[in-house]
Amino acid sequence: MIKISSIFAGHVTLKSLPAYIPGKPIEELEREFGMTGVVKLASNENPLGPSLLAMAALTTASRGIARYPDSNAFLLKEALARKWNVKSNRVIIGNGSDEIIALLARALLAPGDEAMMADPSFSIYRLTTLAGNATPIVIPLKDGRHDLSRMAAAVTQRTKIIFICNPNNPTGTIVRRRKVEEFLSRLPKNILVVFDEAYAEYVTDPEFPRSDLFLKKGACVIFLRTFSKIYGLAGVRVGYGIGPEELIDLLNRVRQPFNVNSLAQQAATAALSDDAHVKKSLALNEKGKRYLYRQFDAMRISYLPTEANFVYFEMPKKNVYDSLLRKGVIIRRLEGASLRVSIGKTSEMWRFIHALRETIKL
Ligand SMILES: Cc1ncc(COP(=O)(O)O)c(C=O)c1O
Repeated sequence: MIKISSIFAGHVTLKSLPAYIPGKPIEELEREFGMTGVVKLASNENPLGPSLLAMAALTTASRGIARYPDSNAFLLKEALARKWNVKSNRVIIGNGSDEIIALLARALLAPGDEAMMADPSFSIYRLTTLAGNATPIVIPLKDGRHDLSRMAAAVTQRTKIIFICNPNNPTGTIVRRRKVEEFLSRLPKNILVVFDEAYAEYVTDPEFPRSDLFLKKGACVIFLRTFSKIYGLAGVRVGYGIGPEELIDLLNRVRQPFNVNSLAQQAATAALSDDAHVKKSLALNEKGKRYLYRQFDAMRISYLPTEANFVYFEMPKKNVYDSLLRKGVIIRRLEGASLRVSIGKTSEMWRFIHALRETIKL
């Protein structure tokens, strides 16, 4: 019998690595409880789905799937380079922005190195750091936001990467431009700051920082965006990063040659050209947000105002998540009494609030 554990003996952290917990799939709940019509508000997807242009591009692209995709994702990179007014050698495309986080860890972290992140924040930063045998340095949020002064103060000679999730998942909060500028000015130049902006297209606060301008001024930063959220393409897996040329070159060396499939490349390129769909998605999100705030206020539920497409709230009653599941509504359970609900279509929001009201009465 092969003993995998003996091969892995040197990798100390892997066995204790917690697995990423994704939102429960609709089909799984339907199977478990023998129900239909389940509403999923757990993974912050776009309830409207993708743009019709992206759907048409998927159909066209499907005719060419006997061939390998363009390893260089030329057309998508060109489109992104135009959008951000950068050269295309500053753009990396990933199989979701998740992949770019993994590539950053692979390219930059060695055992003994440190990567810093907030808590609670997107769990993949910590998991990826641990998987690379490096050390995560976790700094608690302060008043629901990244505590940038504490993060800057916690930098050591081993710090290689600092992840700033902006807006932060799961709290939906942002760090504003002034604070970020001050933070960047305090850091040594040999640390990479990763701005994970998966939800940036939903932000309405005018003080949201422009990472592309930090980059243009020569800061050691990369910012990550995704097609999984407002562009409604989570299933095809495509995200991107824009950063310094030298870093992008390194990331290209550690990625798989065909990391982004041809359907994803063409759908994403088409999605970028449909501003109307983005606007419509944003408007629906704003409407859902206001509705949730009103309902939470009425039920005296404490929540954090959001700049994203989900709301973080707290309910000390322990069984809220399970009770909602039994009523066919999947949200996200977090640490302690915290929960996160994605902003869905109006009818989905009604279902959620109705189920929540019934749960409170129990
Ligand atoms: C903050 C954050 N970053 C990155 C991702 C990953 O997105 P992708 O689907 O592009 O891998 C997510 C997904 O939920 C996220 O919440």
